[in-house]
Amino acid sequence: MTSVNINGNRFYNLDFITGCQAHVADESVDVIVTDPPYGIAGDTLHKHYNRDETFVVDGYVEVPAEQYGDFSRRWIAEAARILKPNGALYIVSGYTNLYHVLDALRQTALLEVNHIIWKYNFGVYTSTKYVSSHYHILFYEKPGPGKRTFNLECRYGVGEKDAAGGSLNYQDREDVWVINREYKPGQVKNKNELPTALLVKMLQYSSNPGDLVCDPFMGGCSTARVALGLNRRFVGFEISSAIFEARLPALRDLEPGTLLPTLRQPERSRPRNQGQPWDDDEIAACLVRYAELREAGQTKKAAVATLSQELGRGRWAIERILRRNA
Ligand SMILES: C[S@@+](CC[C@H](N)C(=O)[O-])C[C@H]1O[C@@H](n2cnc3c(N)ncnc32)[C@H](O)[C@@H]1O
Repeated sequence: MTSVNINGNRFYNLDFITGCQAHVADESVDVIVTDPPYGIAGDTLHKHYNRDETFVVDGYVEVPAEQYGDFSRRWIAEAARILKPNGALYIVSGYTNLYHVLDALRQTALLEVNHIIWKYNFGVYTSTKYVSSHYHILFYEKPGPGKRTFNLECRYGVGEKDAAGGSLNYQDREDVWVINREYKPGQVKNKNELPTALLVKMLQYSSNPGDLVCDPFMGGCSTARVALGLNRRFVGFEISSAIFEARLPALRDLEPGTLLPTLRQPERSRPRNQGQPWDDDEIAACLVRYAELREAGQTKKAAVATLSQELGRGRWAIERILRRNA
């Protein structure tokens, strides 16, 4: 079984680099979310975690440390090829081989958007140094003529506040994410399975229903499960037959969209005219009113806020009009 099609979603039991060349068209994927093998030979992390490995599926394919640089360059070049212009790439990486991943990214045309730190629980226990409890998430985009999807208010409206008056939207978009790993006693799992909450966050901000999501290194199929659960489409690769055969069947029973009712409903503060085209009269009225407000002593920021209220437009849209007509 090298390929499985479930409702148009494609799963390949193949090496990503050669499999992708054969099966995924140039510029056809909206977003790539992945957790490549870490290149840590003789991984004994489970001992540090004091974790029972009985339910971990065998067959994980590791990349020898001395090949990690070449491996990273080859798979990241493929990822760059299949991404649509303005598409997004998220790579979860430990720190040991991070420099190889960053070097490979710099050899493509992809651009850094954020370098996120994911802080998790179950850090590796140590008594002679600090406890390691983070991963890196490299968020990149493929340059293009349009705008990269970033759903600003998909989780919290920009006006939503916590009890202390802090912005929930701002806090959710800080680049340190504290998300616990899932503790799954007695359940079949993959080594390093990513938590649902982490994957939901990336896909909510960077994709829309119907978009095509790719995971080059599927492991326990966590990215696929979340993508289908959010009504996205999916294409993915896993080189290990043992893992592929153990984890794929569960996806057959998955109802698309099952995660949607579990999502928090943000209170969006969308200005009433956002997204409507500007006509010449509105642009002229905006410029006249801006001049009046400035003349009356309002700062630039205050004048833009007033215009935003009066015209039912976002602050950025007004600033753009002012810039273009300066
Ligand atoms: C870190 S795990 C992915 C874990 C996954 N994100 C999850 O949540 O279960 C990396 C996976 O990549 C697979 N792998 C290693 N080399 C590969 C290759 N060249 N092509 C495709 N899969 C590969 C490994 O067998 C392993 O299952």
